[in-house]
Amino acid sequence: MSTDNELKEIVNDLKNYLEFQQSMGIETIPAQKLEAKQNTPEISEKTEPRTEPMAKTTRPPDEDLITIEEPAGLFDGKTMTLEEIREEIGDCTRCQLHEGRTNLVFGDGNPKARLMFVGEGPGRDEDMQGKPFVGRSGKLLTKIIEAMGLTRDQVYIGNVVKCRPPNNRTPEQNEMDTCEQFLFKQIRFIKPEVIVCLGATAAKSILKTKASLGSLRGKFHSYSGSKLMVTYHPAALLRNPNFKKPAWEDMQVVMKELGLPLRKK
Ligand code: URA
Repeated sequence: MSTDNELKEIVNDLKNYLEFQQSMGIETIPAQKLEAKQNTPEISEKTEPRTEPMAKTTRPPDEDLITIEEPAGLFDGKTMTLEEIREEIGDCTRCQLHEGRTNLVFGDGNPKARLMFVGEGPGRDEDMQGKPFVGRSGKLLTKIIEAMGLTRDQVYIGNVVKCRPPNNRTPEQNEMDTCEQFLFKQIRFIKPEVIVCLGATAAKSILKTKASLGSLRGKFHSYSGSKLMVTYHPAALLRNPNFKKPAWEDMQVVMKELGLPLRKK
C-alpha cells in the first residue's frame, strides 16, 4: 500500500473512532501538553486502581483461530423458519429461568441479515418488553450499529438464553445447554455472513471454548460457515471505557469483511 493510502486509512480509522466516541456521548478527549509529561507519575508510582484489566489490543496468533461446525444431530437435516423455532420454544419451562420470566425474548431484526449479534440473555428491560437489547446496553449497541453505518432493522439480534436470569446473573451451564439449541437453529435459518458474539458467555456457548475474551477478540473464528468475531459486551464498555477502542477495532474488521464503508457519511 502506498504511504498516501496508508495515511488516508489511518485518518479514516481515527475519524471513525472519534465518531464512535461521540456517538457514545463523549464530546471531548483529554489533551496533554508535552511539557506536562514531566509531571506524569513514574510506572512504579501508585496510580488509580483499575477495576478491570486493561484491554489487550494485540492480535492472537493464527493458530488460536477456532472453527466450529453446527452441533451434530440437532437439525435432522432440516432448517426451521424463525416462526417454527418460536413455536417449538412455546411457553417454555425447560429450565428454571422460566420461573422469573415476564416475557420470553426470542430475538429481533432482519431474518435475512448479513450480520447477527449474539448477547448473553435478557435483562430487566428486555424481560419487560420481550425484545433483545433495549435497555442501557441495548442503547449503546444501537449506537455501535449506527456507527457502523447500519440500522437495527438491517441486523439480527439474539441471545444465548431467552429468559432473564435472576438479578441479571450469568446464565448457568445447564441453562445455556438447554436453551442454546434455539440460537443454533436461528443462526442456521439466518445464515449470517458474520456473527458478533457480545461478551464471553456468547463466545463460550458458540465456540465451546474457555479461552479468555481478550485472547479471542480481534479476528475471525468460524461457526458453520459464518465468520465469527468476539468482542466486549456493551455492558463492559459502559463499565470500562478502556474497552471502547478495541471494541471499535473489532467492528472495523467486521465492517471491512462486509464491505461497509469505513467512513461514516
Ligand atoms: N444483555 C444481553 O446480553 N442481552 C440482552 O438482550 C440485553 C442485555
